[in-house]
Amino acid sequence: MSVMRMIDLIYKKRNGAEHSPEEIRFIVNGIAEKSIPDYQLAAWCMAVYFQGMSPREARNLAIEMSVSGETVDLSAIPGVKIDKHSTGGVGDKVSLVLAPLVAAAGAPVCKMSGRGLGHTGGTIDKLESIPGFKTEIPKEDLFRQVKEVGIGLVGQTGNLVPADKYLYALRDVTCTVESIPLIAASIMSKKLAGGADGYVLDVKVGNGAFMKDLEEAKSLAELMVSIGKGAGKKCMAVLTGMDQPLGHAIGNALEVQEAIAALKGQGPGDLMEVSLTLGAQMLILAGIEEEEAAARNRLEQMIADGAAWRTFEKWVSAQGGEVSAIRDEALLPTAPIQLPVVSRNAGYVAYLDTEGLGMLAGRLGAGRASKDDCIDHRVGLIIRKKLGDPVKEGEVLAEVHARTMQEAQAAAESLYNLVIVSAIHQPAPPLIYGYII
Ligand code: URA
Repeated sequence: MSVMRMIDLIYKKRNGAEHSPEEIRFIVNGIAEKSIPDYQLAAWCMAVYFQGMSPREARNLAIEMSVSGETVDLSAIPGVKIDKHSTGGVGDKVSLVLAPLVAAAGAPVCKMSGRGLGHTGGTIDKLESIPGFKTEIPKEDLFRQVKEVGIGLVGQTGNLVPADKYLYALRDVTCTVESIPLIAASIMSKKLAGGADGYVLDVKVGNGAFMKDLEEAKSLAELMVSIGKGAGKKCMAVLTGMDQPLGHAIGNALEVQEAIAALKGQGPGDLMEVSLTLGAQMLILAGIEEEEAAARNRLEQMIADGAAWRTFEKWVSAQGGEVSAIRDEALLPTAPIQLPVVSRNAGYVAYLDTEGLGMLAGRLGAGRASKDDCIDHRVGLIIRKKLGDPVKEGEVLAEVHARTMQEAQAAAESLYNLVIVSAIHQPAPPLIYGYII
């Protein structure tokens, strides 16, 4: 039997052939053991970038990477555990709403979430804006909490999917991040390692998303669903719009406030719609409801009778957060400067540079410029006018929440390039583009 060599696998992929499961295992083991040099891995990533991968190769890559480090076994928690994953957006606080909402409806949530990445925010950073909220909990305590409260949500542990961590860092510096099979395998490897029984994937599409184009987003969603199902899990995806921020708030404590409003039934329409759509699919995959309409009704009931809110309070308290701060939002971190930005002309909101708005919030301190930066939970933006909204001259378009007046004024000036008001009315783009089942 001949010895497998990375040079032969690069040659094979460069020429557009399909890797066998053994070859994918060889590559992932080589990443984990650091036995394949970076220059060969980089060449292989570029070959994949241009030649693509079959669904079978992408699935094998996801599965092999998922077991390259620690994995989580959720079998001690009763019930069907359904995880939700978003490919990343601006103002996406859906996990904060969904976790207590579906838990109140009877679906246990035991979830690992990430921190902000690039122009997108992260659930863990948002939750940490609640004073005292702990996002690192020993496994035994986490499982006990899920059994008692219905939810546990923690940050990703250090040794989860190390092969993906390594490969992602290499892709980042070799212009090979934007490969649909590599993205799908990367995301799904982390999901599989998290141990849930199924996944509802929120694949964002639009100028604030990773995937700017609907066809590309659809391909990514199809591949992720096929990887999930191929790994023996329940899995579906919803394609949702990201041509504008979700809701109004961008920034950590501001987003927590908006999620609180949503749990009380007073959230912005788009946030409520995405939360109910994804939540209904979670209840269906969890086997709690069969029909979407019944699942939505159940979730709406949880909001109307206060069960979702009470579950949120119990969750915050169980993870050490100050319940007084979610009952009285004045006790959440608040920026010293709040500057309204008014429209210089009348018309309709025609364009929002969503990625730019996410980056602007990041520059105000809501995100990190480098890995070790501390974020400022208080700062961010409130986008008052959304796509298609009529605007009068002098009317408030947005509010900047900043640390200093100088930073607020600079951000306000930038906002005029990111929010375009025009005389022509264009309808807002769709919020839900469709399902991949
Ligand atoms: N997010 C991930 O986790 N991996 C990718 O490759 C892209 C986005």
